[in-house]
Amino acid sequence: MTTPRYPVYRASVPSFEELGEDFREVLASGQLSNGPRTRALEEHVAALLGVGHVVAVSSCTTGLALTLRALDLEGEIVIPSYAFSSAGTAAVWAGLTPAFCDCRSDTLTIDVASARSAIGPRTVAIMPVATYGMPPDIDAITALARERGLKVVYDSAMGLGSRYRGRALGGFGDAEVFSLSTRKLVTGVEGGLVTTGDEALAQRVRRMRDYGRREDRLDFVDLGLSARFSELHAVIAKRNLARIDEVKAARAAHVRRFTAALEDIPGLGMFRDPPDRESGNLLLLLRIDPEEAGCTRDDVMRALEARGIETSRYWYPPLHRQAALARRPHRCAPSLEATERAADRWFAVPLYDRMSDAEIDEIASEVRAAVDAYRRVPLGKGG
Ligand SMILES: Cc1ncc(COP(=O)(O)O)c(C=O)c1O
Repeated sequence: MTTPRYPVYRASVPSFEELGEDFREVLASGQLSNGPRTRALEEHVAALLGVGHVVAVSSCTTGLALTLRALDLEGEIVIPSYAFSSAGTAAVWAGLTPAFCDCRSDTLTIDVASARSAIGPRTVAIMPVATYGMPPDIDAITALARERGLKVVYDSAMGLGSRYRGRALGGFGDAEVFSLSTRKLVTGVEGGLVTTGDEALAQRVRRMRDYGRREDRLDFVDLGLSARFSELHAVIAKRNLARIDEVKAARAAHVRRFTAALEDIPGLGMFRDPPDRESGNLLLLLRIDPEEAGCTRDDVMRALEARGIETSRYWYPPLHRQAALARRPHRCAPSLEATERAADRWFAVPLYDRMSDAEIDEIASEVRAAVDAYRRVPLGKGG
């Protein structure tokens, strides 16, 4: 597809006019990284999420790797295979060996029974993922981690603004790590946020984002990275954060309209929040069940792309089949069946903060037309 009429995602950022004055001040100050704006963002997020400490870093991926390193872990870490690559690569960068477990087929978050089955004698930690912003089964994860003495680091990259049983993500486990990259509800253009109630851990991550250099600058005491946060990104992130409730409300309304338009299509499923959690509607995810729809997810994606509607497989391939991870030492739970099904069936269609009803209706009717067209052709003979 050349330039799609509707890309999967359009980042919404403040206008240059809104940012101009703040940018001018930052540039004039001469302090462009890890300065007062970064500190203010960290304090603001800590208050918003009700967590003791926040450390802004260059990305969620570096934040995950630094946090795992800062916990001084050695051995295996249980990770759902249905995840974005960063969960696996950050663990390997931190010197850990992944043990991949399955996901639930409804919320697509870690299947805690499968996580339990993946625990071995060398397992030291677990990294649940907020799948498309959906909080995992935190109570069950906490109980399992306590019982088996495991550290818990959440990959909450997509979960800024998500809620579990009324409580904002950010204060669970040993730490959570969020992303501020462009495809998030709150973007700083790029960036990540490590949140934790553990002051010593926060202090260590803070040091490790800056080469691992001691506060008095007389030695380098931790295996750090160059993963600081820029003051210009802090300005953008803070402005976007101020709009989070408005953004969530707009997206929830769009998803309601899409749902009303699509939910009766046979063989099509939608990603839905259970009553005890809020995912934030970062993406509009659809599932195609070929047995009922008479076509595959990839058939529908092709048909939509031909009509100028961009789509994207989410998440694909699962971690245990990604080349970089598959060729390194790892283990897998006895079954990854729900993961394989999810990776073959789910995809995202366009969803933005600012979207008109007419645009939603047009995309929805193209989805219906794509599935209907294939339904007239026996499975296996479609385009
Ligand atoms: C679940 C998950 N983890 C990690 C990341 C990586 O985030 P970043 O690009 O900030 O490193 C992403 C990016 O979308 C993600 O979806």
